[in-house]
Amino acid sequence: MSPRSQMQANALGAQAILPAETPPSALLDKVGAMLGLLRDSGPETVLQRRFVRASAAFAGLLEAAGSDGPLPVQAINDSVEAINRAADDGNLDTWLDMVWQHDDATYQHCLLVSGLVAAFARKLGFGESDRQLMTTAAVLHDVGKARIPLDILRKPGRLTPAERAVICQHPQIGHDMLVAQGGFAPAVLAAVLSHHEMLDGSGYPHGIGADRIPDPVRMITICDIYAALIERRSYKAPMSPEEAFATLIGMGDKLDRDLLRAFGNVVLNSSVARLGKMMARPAASAAAEDAA
Ligand SMILES: [Fe+2]
Ligand SMILES: [Fe+2]
Repeated sequence: MSPRSQMQANALGAQAILPAETPPSALLDKVGAMLGLLRDSGPETVLQRRFVRASAAFAGLLEAAGSDGPLPVQAINDSVEAINRAADDGNLDTWLDMVWQHDDATYQHCLLVSGLVAAFARKLGFGESDRQLMTTAAVLHDVGKARIPLDILRKPGRLTPAERAVICQHPQIGHDMLVAQGGFAPAVLAAVLSHHEMLDGSGYPHGIGADRIPDPVRMITICDIYAALIERRSYKAPMSPEEAFATLIGMGDKLDRDLLRAFGNVVLNSSVARLGKMMARPAASAAAEDAA
C-alpha cells in the first residue's frame, strides 16, 4: 500500500487496490463486486457473497482434483457452509439465477446439484450434521470428472460407446481419490461411488440395487438427474422444471418414489417454475440417459 505501489498499480489500470494481507473472503467480495455479482446491499447480497465463495471453493477443488494434488478440505467445508446457509434463507431461486450466470458447465452442474441437495435436505428436516454430510457429498459427487479428458467431458454431441465408458469411470475415480486422501465420511464415499446407480440395478459403475443404495445416495441421484435435465448444454435444450420432474417420474422403479414426491415440493412450488418457463424448450427424449 505504499504510495509508489499504488501509483504503479494505477498506471497499470488498477480498478481496485487492496493490501497484500487482505483476507481471501474480502478479496472475493471485492472481485465479486467488480464483476457485478455483488450489488451494493440488501437481502440478496449476503447470498451472492456466499455464492461467490462457493464458486471460488469449487475452482480450488477442481484444480486440485485435476492435478493430483490433495483436495482442499477447508475450501470444501467453506463451500458446504455457504451453500447450507443459502438454503437456510430458502432462496433457491436466487441461487439458481446465479448458477445460470456461471459460464463453466462443470461448475454450474456442481453448484446446481449442491444447491438442490441442500434445499432438499433442509425440506426433509435433516439436522445440521446430516445436512453438512449431504451437501459435502453433493459438492464432491462428480470430483472424479476432473480426471476425465476434457475432449470427452466437453464433447459437443452424443458420445460414442467407448467415450461413454470412459465417462462412466468417474464415480469410481472420485471414490478412489477420496479414499486415497482419507478423512471423508462413509456417507460421502457412498454417494460419490453410487450416485449413478439405479434402484432396479440398471445403473453404474456396479449395477447394485435398492438394497445397497441408502437414502442419502438416492436423494443425490434425484438432484443430479434433475440438474442435468434443466441445465443448458451445447447438445440439448434445457427442460422446464415441470418437464424435468415428469421425466424423473417416468423413470419408474429406477428412483425412490417417496423421495421423488418430496423433491417435487422443493422444485415445483416456487418460482423455480417461473424460471423454468422462461427457459422452456422442447424436451429431448434421450436427455434422461445423458444425465450426468
Ligand atoms: Fe456423476
Ligand atoms: Fe453429476
